[in-house]
Amino acid sequence: MTEKEAIFRRHSVRNYQDKKIEESKITLIKEKIAEINKEGDLNIHFSEDAGKTFRSFLSRMSGLGSAPSAIVCAGKDSEDLDQRVGYYGEKLVLYLQQLGLNTCWVGMFSKKQAELLVAPETGERTVIAIAVGYGVNQGKERKTKTPSEVWEGPDEKPDWFVEGVNAALLAPTAMNQQKFTIRLNEDETVDFIDNGGVFSQVDLGIVKYHFEVGSERK
Ligand SMILES: Cc1cc2nc3c(=O)[nH]c(=O)nc-3n(C[C@H](O)[C@H](O)[C@H](O)COP(=O)(O)O)c2cc1C
Repeated sequence: MTEKEAIFRRHSVRNYQDKKIEESKITLIKEKIAEINKEGDLNIHFSEDAGKTFRSFLSRMSGLGSAPSAIVCAGKDSEDLDQRVGYYGEKLVLYLQQLGLNTCWVGMFSKKQAELLVAPETGERTVIAIAVGYGVNQGKERKTKTPSEVWEGPDEKPDWFVEGVNAALLAPTAMNQQKFTIRLNEDETVDFIDNGGVFSQVDLGIVKYHFEVGSERK
């Protein structure tokens, strides 16, 4: 499965089988995280046992309490930390999909419990968590905005831009808010605009990553 195919197959999964991730895959996940942490100057951490990270009342109700493992995303606090977490975290989410695993970004997690798994270093901030494991199913398609609701630019849009926007519309966003605009400028540069909402900078980072993979332009 290519990264682009992973974009089309991935859906949020909230109900998980009582099955551990194999050691061989855990090794690959840890290697990928080390690479991503270096690239994005982040401190993303994989915890085989999610502990009580997703055990709040709401998480139990949604099924997320069944997630066996957790990824805790933190990094040195800075203005662009949330966006970097979104961008590199989604790179990891797509890799996990390629490994045959299922995931869900989780903004409503227990920070206290997550920080028992990964003690933040001085100056660091824990931004978000990702549930990971083998889903009881592969999730399902959800409602989406149309390209014309999120793009701006000339009437004639090049194929690479259309492909990028289509992939961006498949990006997970908090509460499926999709509050972003993607603008194509005359010089063929692209701007990503945050139209607000909870975790909107994490969303924007995720959207950027999908656009890059979809358009095949970095
Ligand atoms: C930043 C962020 C935070 C999220 N927080 C939660 C959450 O706390 N609980 C939950 O069940 N889903 C959460 N989600 C998953 C979204 O609801 C889901 O991605 C969205 O509805 C789109 O569905 P899809 O991922 O299947 O494309 C979050 C997603 C993102 C990107």
